[in-house]
Amino acid sequence: MEKTQQAQPTAAAPAALTQATPAAPAAPVPPKPAAAAQSKAAAPKPTGAYVGTIATIRGLTVEILLVGERPEVKELLAVDGHPEVFLEVNFYRGNRAICLNLTNNAVVACGQKVTRTHQKVSVPVGPATMGRVFNALGEPLDKGEPVTDIVRPIAVPTGTKSYRSSKNLELLETGLKVIDFLTPFVKGRKIGIIGGAGVGKTVLTMEMIHNVTQGSNKSLSIYCGVGERIREGNELYETLRDTDVLKNTVMFFGQMDATPAIRSMVGPAAATSAEYFRDEEGRDILFFVDNIYRHIQAMTELSTNLGLIPSEGGYSPMVFSDLRRLQDRLASTEKGTITSVQAIYVPADDLSDPAVQAISQQLDSVLVLDRSIAEQGIRPAVNLLKTTSSLLTPKIVGERHYRLAEKVQAIMQKYDSLKNIIAIVGENELSAADRADYQNAKKLITFFSQDFAVAEKFSGKPGEYFTLEQTLDGIEAILNGKDTESEDEKAKSGSEKPTSANTESTSEQAAEKPAAEATPEPKPEQKS
Ligand SMILES: Nc1ncnc2c1ncn2[C@@H]1O[C@H](COP(=O)(O)OP(=O)(O)O)[C@@H](O)[C@H]1O
Ligand SMILES: [Mg+2]
Repeated sequence: MEKTQQAQPTAAAPAALTQATPAAPAAPVPPKPAAAAQSKAAAPKPTGAYVGTIATIRGLTVEILLVGERPEVKELLAVDGHPEVFLEVNFYRGNRAICLNLTNNAVVACGQKVTRTHQKVSVPVGPATMGRVFNALGEPLDKGEPVTDIVRPIAVPTGTKSYRSSKNLELLETGLKVIDFLTPFVKGRKIGIIGGAGVGKTVLTMEMIHNVTQGSNKSLSIYCGVGERIREGNELYETLRDTDVLKNTVMFFGQMDATPAIRSMVGPAAATSAEYFRDEEGRDILFFVDNIYRHIQAMTELSTNLGLIPSEGGYSPMVFSDLRRLQDRLASTEKGTITSVQAIYVPADDLSDPAVQAISQQLDSVLVLDRSIAEQGIRPAVNLLKTTSSLLTPKIVGERHYRLAEKVQAIMQKYDSLKNIIAIVGENELSAADRADYQNAKKLITFFSQDFAVAEKFSGKPGEYFTLEQTLDGIEAILNGKDTESEDEKAKSGSEKPTSANTESTSEQAAEKPAAEATPEPKPEQKS
């Protein structure tokens, strides 16, 4: 299953960069999106003018002593006698060009001659790429032929001007109660799924893909896998293929096995593809990234490698400007929209990490997943208090939805402080009103938990989809105390939501136990 050992064309050899690399280490017997990268027609020609010689090598960083022509920044340079190697010019320091060795190939040595190619890292774009999987260099990672009809450089944004018009705000339904309710999925905007390792970011992203791409044939999705597990990429590929969503999807991967140079290029590569569909075809695009933090991480590794000095919390300022540039490329324009879902890893579960903060600031909604909630078996493990959205306004979601959201947030706030009081004095000491709110908060937490279609393989339970209307009705019923019976009774009778009575009650039963455990007091019989 693990594809780690096979086919790492990204790390091993960007064969697609060059036609002149028939001897590129072809990936051995790969399954699914792992086929050996093949040579590609649009290869840079390593026959340009003489640039200079390699002076020093430090990891991926290669310094060239300039003697001849001065190449452009981002231009690919060829190394004499080694057509499989490409160096990308990063910046200049005096009479030296500081380059990155994209192939991480050990044949590079001091004294070798370097020539221009007049080309930059480019990826194929357009209709021929649909249903295909590429690495950051535009090489196919599936078994298909290389795509070369339309190729664009990845470092050059094409967007004219981004805008955040409040006209035509179109709500897309995800079928996930907590997302539709707290972080409305608005066409052309950005939503983040943020959390530490193993709290459910990937599974939630997959469920979003499952729910929003199914059935609608006109939606075009771009998936960008950065620095995560290769197995997950394989599984997603297979799922999309089996559900026939693949034909409307373009995928880019630079997973954890790839060099930081390659990992830092997947985001821009996928953005290049999205820009093409947006600007040339006027399409509306769904853009999924797992995981955008890994882009920052790759940039950080690179800047360390290049000898740049970190400042803020260990990140170099260059990293943040690069992130801003990437996010700007994922904007909506007059021509088309890019709606993005971005998974964000939080190092050491620390939400105050400067990179996490920087990413969050560029998103319209941030859904915070919490380990303590995941441990209670609540899925998605959303922290209702830390989750925020600038799109949760009466104008966008409507009065009724907005009012309910305000009430839910107030109750959750109260729940948070009551929890501490109850830990000391017990629930029976609360006033009737407080007790009712406390109980409602617990019901809401349970209510927002739901089974995922993509998790059926670990949970054994089929996925649930809720329309926004069902979600709002359910919340209203809880807030209006329509269900004064205890949660146990309700679970038995399944009275709360006629539309999904059975599934609802099972999820409540499942989540009831942990919720009770959270209260140190033995759960008092409820009567309100
Ligand atoms: N909705 C869910 N239902 C059941 N299990 C889940 C769900 N979400 C996550 N999990 C469990 O948690 C594990 C880690 O989730 P994952 O999405 O890979 O975390 P992350 O991407 O945040 O590191 C999964 O492999 C699965 O076992
Ligand atoms: Mg993950």
